[in-house]
Amino acid sequence: MENTLNFIKEKTAGFTPQIAVILGSGLGGYTKEIEGIEIPYGEIEGFMPSGVQGHKGSLFFGEIQNKKVVIMQGRFHFYEGYSMKSVTFPVRVFKKLGVKDIIITNAAGSLDLYHHPGELMIISDHINFTGTNPLIGKNDDNEGERFPDMSEVYSLELRKLAFDCARELNIDIKEGVYAATTGPSYETPAEVNMLKLSGADVVGMSTVPEAIVANWLNMRVLGISLISNYAAGVFNNKLSHNEVIESGRNASDKVKKLLDLIISRI
Ligand code: HPA
Repeated sequence: MENTLNFIKEKTAGFTPQIAVILGSGLGGYTKEIEGIEIPYGEIEGFMPSGVQGHKGSLFFGEIQNKKVVIMQGRFHFYEGYSMKSVTFPVRVFKKLGVKDIIITNAAGSLDLYHHPGELMIISDHINFTGTNPLIGKNDDNEGERFPDMSEVYSLELRKLAFDCARELNIDIKEGVYAATTGPSYETPAEVNMLKLSGADVVGMSTVPEAIVANWLNMRVLGISLISNYAAGVFNNKLSHNEVIESGRNASDKVKKLLDLIISRI
């Protein structure tokens, strides 16, 4: 951790981001026209090169709407074989760099016919179906509690703010529960049924580990899902990762406008 922090501080001349953003599948284009410092993950101790198509694999530092932000262009997934500790290491780094609020985005599959591909959904809560937890292991009480409360992982304040911003921009947005699985295989129709019955609205393979750690670290969390597809069996459909990436690209303008406005108001 110390080496990583020193390296980043040196590369960014002591830049102190207030907000962190994690960009999900296909949403990596967000920083395209923004000036900033970009560090490939491969150069950062504790970060892994991003091997998933649709994920760029670099850390971006810059100003958006006069706010200092750090942006993960691509994330680490448990299904890539990384430990939960590695998957969530960047969140711990962000906290130590001074980040107070984190916006976590992802692509997700809709479990019903109410959340449509192409739409955005603010995450109100999650269900951790990964079968593990990123906080398992020795707890550092200086970072967070051993048994952290999870009754409001996704900040009500930030959810309201995101809603207001979407309304102002005329962007259709819903709210719902995100279920996390490990992947990498997509769900079977029977599993989709079970997830639906459990109270979830969408399903994905990320976000929950990062959100748990951010909440443990007392950061405010905002989660936004881009619905990229109907989950298996919802619409008699077959799933492909290309479809997921394509949805991200198609929604990138909308997501950029929304993120810009949210960041300006935080
Ligand atoms: N299932 C799981 N993860 C996903 C999906 C899905 O249908 N779409 C995007 N990520």
